Amino acid sequence: MADISDILLNRRTIRKYSSETVDDKLLNDILSMGCRTSTTGNMQVYSIIITRDEAKKKELAPFHFNQKMITEAPITLTFCADFNRFNKWCKLRDAEPGYDNFLSFMTAAIDALLIAQTVCIAAEAKGLGICYLGTTTYMAQKIIEVLKLPKGVVPVTTVTLGWPDEFPEQVDRLPLSAIIHNEVYKDYSDEDIEMFYKEKEQRKDSQQFVKENNKNTLAQVFTDIRYKKADNLYFSKMLLQVLKDQGYMEY
Ligand SMILES: Cc1cc2nc3c(=O)[nH]c(=O)nc-3n(C[C@H](O)[C@H](O)[C@H](O)COP(=O)(O)O)c2cc1C
Repeated sequence: MADISDILLNRRTIRKYSSETVDDKLLNDILSMGCRTSTTGNMQVYSIIITRDEAKKKELAPFHFNQKMITEAPITLTFCADFNRFNKWCKLRDAEPGYDNFLSFMTAAIDALLIAQTVCIAAEAKGLGICYLGTTTYMAQKIIEVLKLPKGVVPVTTVTLGWPDEFPEQVDRLPLSAIIHNEVYKDYSDEDIEMFYKEKEQRKDSQQFVKENNKNTLAQVFTDIRYKKADNLYFSKMLLQVLKDQGYMEY
């Protein structure tokens, strides 16, 4: 078994999986490791939905914009912010829950994301490959319908899981000095930005990306194509409605 440093430093997202299954014992081991993660007040206000059924994966696929990993990976995990279970416990024990607000959604979403990341590391340590799907928060309403999530439960991220059938190049990272601030935040000058993004912009794959998308800069690929303002506003509105419907915006 590889050392944890090797696992963390050598990982990459896997989007192509072999048809080999992931058995229940292995999945349970990984989930048990994930659920050792710290959570707010040890309330564990999250749930994980396992999707193995081909028909269910096909139902989910359009709401992940038909990204092929959903149907090709043997397992899809949907991580949900979930005060439903905790609220029910409170009510049965003569305790009045006060978790119908945005702060509580953030609490539960943070728990769910921390669990998701530990599950991913546990899976990668076992040689499995993972891919997060950010489409979950875009299409939360539809995913709620497919997975039959009750009030209090909001999907916050999805991870596809399976045995890798590819070994992609690792993608770049900004240098650590771009990310780290000692003691207080040191804001970035234009020169800092030039320096920190230089390597990313000069990479062949980045330049190819700019060319393919008929843009002048890499940043424009993000602002005009991949993460456009109009889309952000549209999906933002939908997500806020989901939070209202699921009972997190009462006051
Ligand atoms: C919250 C989140 C959402 C993501 N959504 C997607 C997605 O919808 N489709 C996809 O192919 N990759 C997705 N990714 C994977 C990222 O593209 C990937 O982590 C990033 O490019 C860095 O690559 P690496 O993980 O191989 O280092 C997502 C990652 C995160 C953390």
